[in-house]
Amino acid sequence: MQHDQHRSLPQPDADSAAHSQRVADWIHGKINESGGSISFAEFMQHALYAPGLGYYAAGTAKFGAAGDFVTAPEVSAVFGRVLARQCAEVLAATDGGAILEFGAGSGKLAVDILSALQDLDALPARYDIVEVSADLIERQQRRVREQLPQLASRVRWLSELPREHVGVVIANEVLDALPVERFLRTETEVRQLRVVADAGRFCMIDAAAPAYLRDAVQRIEADLGDRLPPGFVSEVSHGLPGWLGEVAAAMRAGVAFLCDYGLSRREVYAAGRSGGWLRCHFRHHVHDNPLILAGIQDITAWVDFTTVAEAAVASGLDVIGFAPQAQFLLGGGLDLELQGFASLPTGTQIELSGQVKMLTLPDEMGENFKCMALRRGDVPVPSAFQLADRTHTL
Ligand SMILES: C[S@@+](CC[C@H](N)C(=O)[O-])C[C@H]1O[C@@H](n2cnc3c(N)ncnc32)[C@H](O)[C@@H]1O
Repeated sequence: MQHDQHRSLPQPDADSAAHSQRVADWIHGKINESGGSISFAEFMQHALYAPGLGYYAAGTAKFGAAGDFVTAPEVSAVFGRVLARQCAEVLAATDGGAILEFGAGSGKLAVDILSALQDLDALPARYDIVEVSADLIERQQRRVREQLPQLASRVRWLSELPREHVGVVIANEVLDALPVERFLRTETEVRQLRVVADAGRFCMIDAAAPAYLRDAVQRIEADLGDRLPPGFVSEVSHGLPGWLGEVAAAMRAGVAFLCDYGLSRREVYAAGRSGGWLRCHFRHHVHDNPLILAGIQDITAWVDFTTVAEAAVASGLDVIGFAPQAQFLLGGGLDLELQGFASLPTGTQIELSGQVKMLTLPDEMGENFKCMALRRGDVPVPSAFQLADRTHTL
């Protein structure tokens, strides 16, 4: 089945294939330097973020119809406009707060949120962006300059986290782009999946797991109340608790909205889900082989939101909401955004209803895509979580 899936992938053009070869050469070099193998997390880090080469670091299209995948902000401005309504509530409660966005992609979400806040007369003094990709920073800056020249002076790109951020934090599809470790549970131990080179191609082998990975899997098993079955393969986001700890330390008061494909721990590590939640995206084809198309395909892993909640609580934040995207949008003002729908031209109505379906239908992004809200300080729970909150499922 895997073979057929890969055979049906489109062929990269000559330039992309040449770029991918350069990325593969870089990773082969890293494997040699490390004595013959690297962890899967290191492989994912290089494939996505190797300076000037990795998928997010180099200049491929990535987002939208001409790229490899679409995210909620790329589907429709409605997503950013509803999120902006939630930002307005938090900004009002934190009096003079700012917005801090991580991993702003093409910059579309920033533009949609700032435009909507302008319409709501609720603009923050600053919209700060923390982005790891130099190429994406350039694209974000161009977009803000071209589409929001009157607000461009409010947007800043930070090279390090602020110390005393007050207001809103946003990370849309950032957690699923953090490198993950892969593991194999056997009858007697936890093994680490590592990447080696074999006749010029990348392959996965298993080896003794380092203590941090063994401990992470054992903590998951303790929480589930049972051992994972022998032969079970899945992922652990090793970097997530540290990333969240840094974000929490930067927040003096306000709410962080973390939106991503994800589930509770019980669902992520359900016995029938051996193989894990890693997904690769190449030209709108989804498959599960991260070892091909190095640097020219996206590699993501669905998020264990129980880990996010635990890391948040350990960092002194309150978990105040967890909802599927459909509920988040419906509770957060989707109806208000669609108020003028009947007076729109028919073509626009058809286009907009297609976008809303994509954002809300359970088989599209409505159910699998979740939004979690984390709070520090005395800020009311945003209205988007008042319709439905699934925090108790974590
Ligand atoms: C899947 S894209 C999502 C882009 C955008 N938020 C959207 O929804 O369209 C992941 C983004 O996160 C960025 N990123 C990954 N790790 C990051 C980190 N540790 N800090 C900040 N940005 C990061 C990537 O460069 C990219 O912009």
